[in-house]
Amino acid sequence: MSRFKSFLSCIVVLNLVCIAMAQAQVSVTVEPRAKPISPDLFGIFFEDLNYAADGGLYAELLQNRSFEYQATEQLTWNPLTSWELVARGGGKGSLAIEAASPLHPNNPHYVVVNVASPGAGVGLSNSGFDGIAVRAGEKYDLSLFARQVYTGRRWSNPQRFDTPSSLVARLENADGTVLGEASLEVLGSGWKRLTATLTASQSDPQARFVLLATTQGGIGLDEISLFPQKTFRNRPNGLRPDLAQVLADLKPSFVRFPGGCLVHGDGLGNLYRWKDTIGPVEQRRGQSNIWRYHQSVGLGFFEYFQFCEDIGAKPLPIVPAAVCCQNSGQMGGTGQEGLPMAEMPAFIQDVLDLIEYANGPATSTWGAKRAAAGHPGPFHLEYVGIGNEDAQTPVFRERFKMIDDAVKARHPEVTVIGTAGPSPNGKDFDEGWKFANELKLPVVDEHYYQSPDWFLANQHRYDSYDRTKSKVFVGEYASKGNAWLNAMAEAAYMTSLERNGDVVRLASYAPLLAREGHTQWNPDLIYFTATAVCPTVNYYVQQLFSINHGDSFFSTTVSTPAGGASVSEKNLATSCVKDSKTGDIILKLINVSTNPVPAQVIFPGDFGDINPVAACTVLSGDPRAKNTFATPQEVVPRTSQLTVSRSFQYDMPASSFTVIRIKGSTTVK
Ligand code: AHR
Repeated sequence: MSRFKSFLSCIVVLNLVCIAMAQAQVSVTVEPRAKPISPDLFGIFFEDLNYAADGGLYAELLQNRSFEYQATEQLTWNPLTSWELVARGGGKGSLAIEAASPLHPNNPHYVVVNVASPGAGVGLSNSGFDGIAVRAGEKYDLSLFARQVYTGRRWSNPQRFDTPSSLVARLENADGTVLGEASLEVLGSGWKRLTATLTASQSDPQARFVLLATTQGGIGLDEISLFPQKTFRNRPNGLRPDLAQVLADLKPSFVRFPGGCLVHGDGLGNLYRWKDTIGPVEQRRGQSNIWRYHQSVGLGFFEYFQFCEDIGAKPLPIVPAAVCCQNSGQMGGTGQEGLPMAEMPAFIQDVLDLIEYANGPATSTWGAKRAAAGHPGPFHLEYVGIGNEDAQTPVFRERFKMIDDAVKARHPEVTVIGTAGPSPNGKDFDEGWKFANELKLPVVDEHYYQSPDWFLANQHRYDSYDRTKSKVFVGEYASKGNAWLNAMAEAAYMTSLERNGDVVRLASYAPLLAREGHTQWNPDLIYFTATAVCPTVNYYVQQLFSINHGDSFFSTTVSTPAGGASVSEKNLATSCVKDSKTGDIILKLINVSTNPVPAQVIFPGDFGDINPVAACTVLSGDPRAKNTFATPQEVVPRTSQLTVSRSFQYDMPASSFTVIRIKGSTTVK
């Protein structure tokens, strides 16, 4: 910082002088003190929405593996959803859902395969999430819990199971061709974990999993899981590598998880309880998702923390503020309700325990559980968000304050993030901020989904925010579309987040992931199928900002000289930042107009030496262009070398976002 202080009068001017149809002039001014930019500015927000977790990032291939789907999640669902009875070669038998002597109380249902006559096998098949995608030569780890069950047919004495029951597990294609096979044996009436590995002989995007009993009698089965051996960073119970990689490629500084509305849930019984999501997967308590499907919580808090560590992002968990979503039970349900006061001490303890789980020594109660999961060292949790765009009511405020007081008292090292409703203005927004100021919260979470015009018109939103008060987390924002115009508007707005990187501490686009055919919310940043990933044009904007972030900002102004035809200021946005690690100067130029804007870029003498070598990355296209599975390359970044100098010509293409990264420049002497 001190190096900048000697340049109190220094003015760096970067002129974009339009010499064709339009004329503009952009000035970049170094203020008396260079403005620092939050090191955590650009992150991601993961919510299990649009099948982002089960059927998405979580690599499990079988759907409804623990037979817990319910009609309360979707009217047509039941514990056998996505499973089917299979009887081969004259086999006869049936499937039944049982709850007596379950594998674990958190996982109360299981299936019993009753084999009256085995024929060539009786059992069940699973269709995965729209089929199971397998690749030739790859290995798939099967695990399941099984026990012999008395059916009254085979054993006269139900207590004596001394002959094993045989199981055959297969991957099959649609016409029944076996793509991989393994055998297992079940012995005894107590639950036992059995494992096998299936190797796929052929690739198939829509295989099915089949499990056949080839002996007469009853077998109880639960938590039937099929995992690719190849997961992201080879983590057990891990993540789908292509999806995890596309997130890692965003180089996010943080990951906000696990929601969103998912966190405060649909009614008090549906609050997201992090403790239900750790430990052996068969002992986790899955539950209905506010987005109307089932969350297995196989992707739970341990896996979230591990993923953050694997991609070098700070974990940013959100816990409910002990109130449920104000939209709970839209069909005549509860609306916002608060936990009874008698339950608050335990709820608050859960929040404190989360911090211990993440950061406590392996000898502490909750740190020991983290260590038992394979991570003795801490996860370095710095932030905890309390609440998600909750309605600002006395019920909310009372509970929020109780949680905040406890975290502040026990963990002053953790930054608490408050919440300011679902909109960029209005009653909840105003009251949320007023409350945050009363409590002197360090950071407040703002959410907004608005039109491209709104984003272009609101580029000065944070210029006037009070720097002495709470900092901002733009926890959810998007311009309601996946066309290039939307992404350009977001890019223009993101220059304003950089400019205000001293008061905007964190920002994340929302929502992140969406499985084709299973979306509850559009637009999203990344679409995927079982075998393919399609980053949207918005994704590339997020990525260019994230990989080209800086830690200090050179204030920019955009002006058009009097006289010539002008380009609307609203349609041009710029920012200039420095990355002190590399010494690179990074200039971002957004031209939302449909005309090219030829420009002269000038760095005045005070700016020091300018390295002539620059990388110039451009995103441009028709404002209506979208990246889709059919046309994934409509707008993708293209990088070339650019020779720059103290004064150089750069023609901003029509409808474009350019990043000019000037290598290791010496700035402001
Ligand atoms: O991002 C989708 C949803 O939008 C989030 O769950 C919620 O916080 C907001 O309303």
